Amino acid sequence: MSERRPLSVESSVERAEPGTLQRVVRDLRVGRETAGTRELVSRVARGLAGRVYRRERYLVIEQRIDELIEARVPEGVRVSAFADEWDAVAPLLTSAVRRQFELRARSGRACLLAWRGDRVIGYTWMSTRIDPSIEGLPLALPDSAAYLWDLFVIRRERSAGIGTALTGARLAWTREAGFDLGWRAISPSNRPSARTAEKTGAVRVLGEIQALTRFGNSTYREQPFENRPLLTV
Ligand SMILES: CC(C)(COP(=O)(O)OP(=O)(O)OC[C@H]1O[C@@H](n2cnc3c(N)ncnc32)[C@H](O)[C@@H]1OP(=O)(O)O)[C@@H](O)C(=O)NCCC(=O)NCCS
Repeated sequence: MSERRPLSVESSVERAEPGTLQRVVRDLRVGRETAGTRELVSRVARGLAGRVYRRERYLVIEQRIDELIEARVPEGVRVSAFADEWDAVAPLLTSAVRRQFELRARSGRACLLAWRGDRVIGYTWMSTRIDPSIEGLPLALPDSAAYLWDLFVIRRERSAGIGTALTGARLAWTREAGFDLGWRAISPSNRPSARTAEKTGAVRVLGEIQALTRFGNSTYREQPFENRPLLTV
């Protein structure tokens, strides 16, 4: 005769999908340790509400590779190309972000890591073409530009120049890959992100994109400041 287990939230979640509870608990811990409680709460709230309705604005900016300001890498930190160091990067990744990383790596996108000793403390991604299901925006990236995106530094290492060092390193990567321009999409309210651009070279604002997501479907509006499209839709 089979033994009966008492009913509990935990056992019913585990029955519904093995490992779900452990994954949620781990994701919350990773989010709190890497981004901090306030950023985690706002991310979760935005994620939940964003499934129903989300409105976002981005400034599309361009940096010319021949107008760069060299960024200093802080002492004790090194920046290197991601070479499948999955174990080292794992402590920074929630399960959803890990799936995104795997898709990007499989799809040939390039990533840089910032290290302190043997610990990864930040990362960023570079793309030479746009697939909106990967890069998240249907940008009309010109052939002469690389798209430089998803810049992240763990909270306790911020304001020490690591975000700027990663930004400088990905612009150097852009130059070495033979591109003339780096494109970014920055939320106008993200001052730290905008500063990493301003501190690494001349910035030209190409225009603004508004993204509206309703029940999982996104629509986009663009307001180019010059006579150049920003979107492919
Ligand atoms: C954006 C981010 C990568 C910057 O990393 P960082 O290591 O702190 O960057 P730096 O130390 O090079 O600092 C960049 C500038 O932002 C400023 N800054 C950092 N934190 C700030 C804050 N909370 N509020 C206002 N300015 C801030 C720094 O003072 C510096 O400007 P300054 O040189 O004029 O003083 C980091 O804040 C982050 O990971 N944020 C969450 C993810 C994100 O928003 N990514 C960008 C969009 S993809």
